[in-house]
Amino acid sequence: MDIKKLTAKEKLRLICGKDFWHTEDFGGKLPKLTVADGPVGLRVVKQRAADGSETAYPATPYPSVQLLANTWDRACARKMGAALADDCLERDVDILLAPGVNIKRTPLCGRNFEYFSEDPLLAGEMAKAYILGLQENGAGACLKHFCCNNLEYDRLHQSSDVDERTLREIYYVPFEIACEAKPVSVMCSYNRINGTYGAEYKKGFVVLRKEFGFDGAIFSDWSAVRDRTASLKAGLDLEMPFCEENYQKLCKDFEEGRIAEAELDACAERVLELISRCKEMREGKKPRRSEAERRRIAQEIAAEGMVLLKNDGTLPLAAGARLAVAGCYAQPSDMGMLRGAGAAAVNREGEAFSVPGCLEKRGYAVTFEPAFSYDGIDSFHQDAHRAAELAAESNVSVLCVGLGEKFERESADRETLRLPLVQERAILASAAVAPTVVVVFAGAAVDMSAWADKVSAILFAGYPGAGGDEALASLLSGENNPCGRLSESFPRSLADCPAAREDGISAGVTRYAEGPDVGYRYYSTHHVPVLFAFGHGLSYASFAYRDLTAEADENGVSLSFEVCNTSERAGKEVAQVYVRACAPVVYRPARELKAFEKIFVKGGGCEKVSLSLGRRAFAHWSAAEDGWRVSDGAYEILVGASSEDIRLVRKVWIKGGRFSLFPL
Ligand code: BGC
Repeated sequence: MDIKKLTAKEKLRLICGKDFWHTEDFGGKLPKLTVADGPVGLRVVKQRAADGSETAYPATPYPSVQLLANTWDRACARKMGAALADDCLERDVDILLAPGVNIKRTPLCGRNFEYFSEDPLLAGEMAKAYILGLQENGAGACLKHFCCNNLEYDRLHQSSDVDERTLREIYYVPFEIACEAKPVSVMCSYNRINGTYGAEYKKGFVVLRKEFGFDGAIFSDWSAVRDRTASLKAGLDLEMPFCEENYQKLCKDFEEGRIAEAELDACAERVLELISRCKEMREGKKPRRSEAERRRIAQEIAAEGMVLLKNDGTLPLAAGARLAVAGCYAQPSDMGMLRGAGAAAVNREGEAFSVPGCLEKRGYAVTFEPAFSYDGIDSFHQDAHRAAELAAESNVSVLCVGLGEKFERESADRETLRLPLVQERAILASAAVAPTVVVVFAGAAVDMSAWADKVSAILFAGYPGAGGDEALASLLSGENNPCGRLSESFPRSLADCPAAREDGISAGVTRYAEGPDVGYRYYSTHHVPVLFAFGHGLSYASFAYRDLTAEADENGVSLSFEVCNTSERAGKEVAQVYVRACAPVVYRPARELKAFEKIFVKGGGCEKVSLSLGRRAFAHWSAAEDGWRVSDGAYEILVGASSEDIRLVRKVWIKGGRFSLFPL
């Protein structure tokens, strides 16, 4: 529709939304857009109670975004986006309020299960693929939360105080990369960025539009607007949900001349454009995958994302073994144990999940004992000792522990990285009497240092969606070969994580004092050992890297190397390429991920991997020059299986901006 057909009053109404989940349609004069959460399963709200709590329709549950990121596989993200688009089409949803790409600055952030990674390249690449999958199948994306919403603590007020270089190198990057997929919308964050509310963050909105090529509409987070006039002037196009008070104040400001019509038109035009773009995107599209297929996709992604952290050979389980399966997570009485809470929650009503059942089906002799209860985690009505009693009578104990919506949720951060004490004790008791495999259901890093060295194997199962029990059993039994890799570091303790220290936090302000040293960038630079490194993950196969060759030209460096499977079993490896500046002119972290690829290699086979590193892979954000700068000097290209497991190194030289290779 042409904006000229709308009165000023209508334009003011258009940029304020219709209700909680719809854009304004003027009684049918305009098509109406329906928006809905969430990233890992559609949350179409059926009813809202007076206290604000909502009941959603049951929907296909996909693995948490963290588990998706652990696949390190762009194809998985694209598949998940495509499947979610089918869910949207079925429920008449035009825009899915996802994905969230906030960086995991601290492992305590209550919403980490909804986010991809501590690394901006991995987060951006996976989000880009997810958005492509969603939008090419008819549903719009809403990239969120722009930006620096890295804690839930006092999220409506807290200011994230970040220097410009860190913003550019870490916090903006996932948005920058994801914008290549042309998301139809971006959602601002609740928090302030260097003192300015996310809804009024004009400087950032300009970067999004002018530098990152974002050409969609900017939404508020729900009720994040304090001053609609200020947010309009900053370039926030659509306030959601409708708020009468803000709308009245906006009208008054307009009538009294505080808003120019051209300013109003800029936002209203983008909302109109959003409506027509979404309707076009959807035209003629029908769900292409049946519900059963979508569930199968969820299961496949879960099997690709679960990470084998440790294994002394107990896994895969020997055929026909006597297994003591313990822990209430193995057969949850409440599906909330297998997800976080808030906008990313999925209603999994009526769904069954049984690890003992899936193992029994595979020919194991299984006994099951919940051993501790989710509801009474801090009470003494627990039977943790039963886990050990059963373990003593088995060949292998499979202990299923975890967190869930009581621990990981929107609006609150975790207080500890450790599991509840009763679970740690059950693990130690079991490990004392039988080879113990610990399966962890959680959406973020867990401090396992109290027990990791006592157990035989650890499998990080994340929050799997539909078919997660089958996916897990297929990995434990060896039917599938584990190939997930950690998308975040697992530190030895919270005290090791610079961003989790309290000294940067005061009432109202969180100072990002660690600068670009987020996650593995910090641990590797400062030689702080971690329990499991970023990028780590084992397989039942083993891989060797060889024959790194490089070619340099004016645009950067092209690499190729071989990944060889030194076992008889086929498997997948994630080859990771990091860059290190050897004698930098400004502070640089000791290594930064600049490329990655997941590859399938058959038993005994070799695959050639070719990757290229452009100029940006060597650049830093120069605060002095207000732009990206590639400094002359030597750089190391590190190829490996994790941030701490580097297998091949090649040095390159940049002189006068030109790349050349160091002689070998
Ligand atoms: C969350 C968003 C979500 C929105 C709508 C907010 O509280 O921060 O991520 O999309 O609510 O439910």
